[in-house]
Amino acid sequence: MKCLELFAGIGGFSAAFRNQTNVTAVDINEQAARVYRCNFSHPYLIAEISALPEEWFHKQSADLWWISPPCTPFTRRGKSAGLEDPRSVALKHLIEIVPKVLPSLICIENVVGFERSDAFFRICREWGKGGYHVDWTITCPTQLGWPNFRPRFYAIASLERKRRLSRTYENVAPVRLSDFLDASNDEIESLRLANRMANQYEKAIDRVHPKNVDSIAACFTAAYGKSVIRSGSYLVTETGYRRFSPREVCRLLGFSDDFVFPDELSQRQLWHLLGNSLSIPVIRAVFGGVLG
Ligand SMILES: C[S@@+](CC[C@H](N)C(=O)[O-])C[C@H]1O[C@@H](n2cnc3c(N)ncnc32)[C@H](O)[C@@H]1O
Repeated sequence: MKCLELFAGIGGFSAAFRNQTNVTAVDINEQAARVYRCNFSHPYLIAEISALPEEWFHKQSADLWWISPPCTPFTRRGKSAGLEDPRSVALKHLIEIVPKVLPSLICIENVVGFERSDAFFRICREWGKGGYHVDWTITCPTQLGWPNFRPRFYAIASLERKRRLSRTYENVAPVRLSDFLDASNDEIESLRLANRMANQYEKAIDRVHPKNVDSIAACFTAAYGKSVIRSGSYLVTETGYRRFSPREVCRLLGFSDDFVFPDELSQRQLWHLLGNSLSIPVIRAVFGGVLG
């Protein structure tokens, strides 16, 4: 199957479906492209998606479009401006282009709330007129027994016959938070949360105990490492709190340890890119029936 990985970032889609080898990725972020190119040999076009003309999409003749557009326009923090938000310009373009190019399958990933947005309303209306059937669901890695809270909206639009997303999940493995951690990271100074910050945000910090078998890490966002609260969890260590390392966040998203980070990217840049990515076990579970 020929796939277009739009808003490709570091390649969560390609990491989940490694059997899909005929992939072209597009994203505007050069750092994301650097990570992607270390891990996949697919062509990666650094481009503004809204500037790609209809003919470009025709030329790709892709059967499947993977679309994970910026989430902020669909969050309360981002003022829920939806399609009115300038960050939605590329999504708006794709909503118009799809009924002209007619790919067989389109998969969408976004934050919870997208299902109530003007964007999803327009997708259902405009793509519906073009002959698409749409199915959607909300799934969190915790539903698979995975110790990370990251509920997300997933949808599939299909031409001809209606394709259904999977809603029955098997526990992927008896995974515990401690399975994702490197105890030696407790000694790394750059991961420690300064006592001053810990005291200032004591009540708001999401903290998890690594040895507790029921510990679940909060959703890691692109702001992890920049904003102390509402961006992810901290681990309780013998000497205070520490952040999860980028590698630990990467494992919690379901990437394997052979996923390479380029040396030149800083810890903060990696947290940013990983926070934008997706939960691999969840997209395998939700889309696996269609993508195998
Ligand atoms: C939610 S992230 C998707 C990340 C991706 N699924 C992954 O696994 O890393 C959104 C991505 O869209 C990219 N992006 C935002 N606006 C764009 C635009 N107008 N054109 C191309 N890429 C854009 C960002 O650089 C970011 O990587």
